Amino acid sequence: MDIKMVNLTKIFTSKNRKEVQAVSHVDLTIPSGKLIGLLGPSGCGKSTTLYLIAGLLKQNEGQIFFGDDEVSEMPPEKRGIGLVFQNYALYPHFTVRENILFPLQNLHVPKEEAKTRTYDMAKLVGLEEMLDRKPKELSGGQQQRVAIARALVKKPRVLLLDEPLSNLDARLRLQTREEIKRIQRETGITTVFVTHDQEEAMSISDEIVVMKDGVIQQMGQPQDVYDHPDNLFVAKFLGSPQINVFDSTIEAGKVLIDGMAIGATELPDQKVIIGIRPEGLQVDKTKTSPFKFEIDLVETIGRDTTLIIEVTSEESTLLDKKTFKAIVDAENRIKPKDVIHFVVKPEKMHIFGLDGNRL
Ligand SMILES: Nc1ncnc2c1ncn2[C@@H]1O[C@H](COP(=O)(O)OP(=O)(O)O)[C@@H](O)[C@H]1O
Ligand SMILES: [Mg+2]
Repeated sequence: MDIKMVNLTKIFTSKNRKEVQAVSHVDLTIPSGKLIGLLGPSGCGKSTTLYLIAGLLKQNEGQIFFGDDEVSEMPPEKRGIGLVFQNYALYPHFTVRENILFPLQNLHVPKEEAKTRTYDMAKLVGLEEMLDRKPKELSGGQQQRVAIARALVKKPRVLLLDEPLSNLDARLRLQTREEIKRIQRETGITTVFVTHDQEEAMSISDEIVVMKDGVIQQMGQPQDVYDHPDNLFVAKFLGSPQINVFDSTIEAGKVLIDGMAIGATELPDQKVIIGIRPEGLQVDKTKTSPFKFEIDLVETIGRDTTLIIEVTSEESTLLDKKTFKAIVDAENRIKPKDVIHFVVKPEKMHIFGLDGNRL
């Protein structure tokens, strides 16, 4: 069952009467049975969007549909949602079993059925051996799995997760995200996974939705959005190290950075902004490319070498930062002070207009 948002808008009025459009005219369809990562910086409106879907907040404008069923005015308990928050929110004095069972008691599900469903859910999240433990006897990752089991035991129509991994340490975060992916696959439940962490969203999601200032910037499969960002914001938000961004001009079909031709285009002459991801720069072994720099720092980790080039000149066209980065094969054996000629893989050169939109 898909989730459809139509012109969805939520306005908060703060104490000083300033209005914040936390969610602004969102038109979005979350496809049935998929795990969608809702991604953006803190304050961009992710949680608000999730709470509107859940019915915990009421929209100012617009509609929400679960399949053909309009839920815009429906109270949260009628919508059939499973919610999981960052801070597990388990009952500390209840065992794992009692925590998972609790929603079913509220629904007056017959005892035997409730028992079976509780066991099945514990098994789904891999905790069937721990049913008699209390939350404090579990790791953070296990506690979050209990919270997921509790959210799913009611057989909700959609699963909504708000930064569910943020309280976990790095190792548990990786493990638990794989678990969530597996649980979502096995149940096939339509899932919205909110995170500010681009790497997390890219790795777990069937599709990502990038949001900024309450507005959807782009939706698509993670690799497609990474390879074809619609605007500079998306280009910069995805990828680590960040994409390199240069002021640039197009002259007679050539793309020029600081007068150096780095590629060709059919676009007419104009000022543009060029984005090149670190892995989009390759070492030109023929040393003929005009795009050359002295290397300042070299970091080699395994197969990859990250070259860090400081751009100190006043006329530098590098935007935002003082350094740009290239990730090249470690076999190049590059050292600081080497002068390296770079070529840009044509499909790795992103051309944006001065308004930040892709040309
Ligand atoms: N209850 C509220 N009252 C006033 N402003 C709010 C409230 N909740 C959220 N906001 C504002 O709405 C915007 C979006 O918030 P939120 O959805 O929590 O962002 P995110 O989850 O992406 O960090 C922010 O500017 C935030 O300050
Ligand atoms: Mg939030």
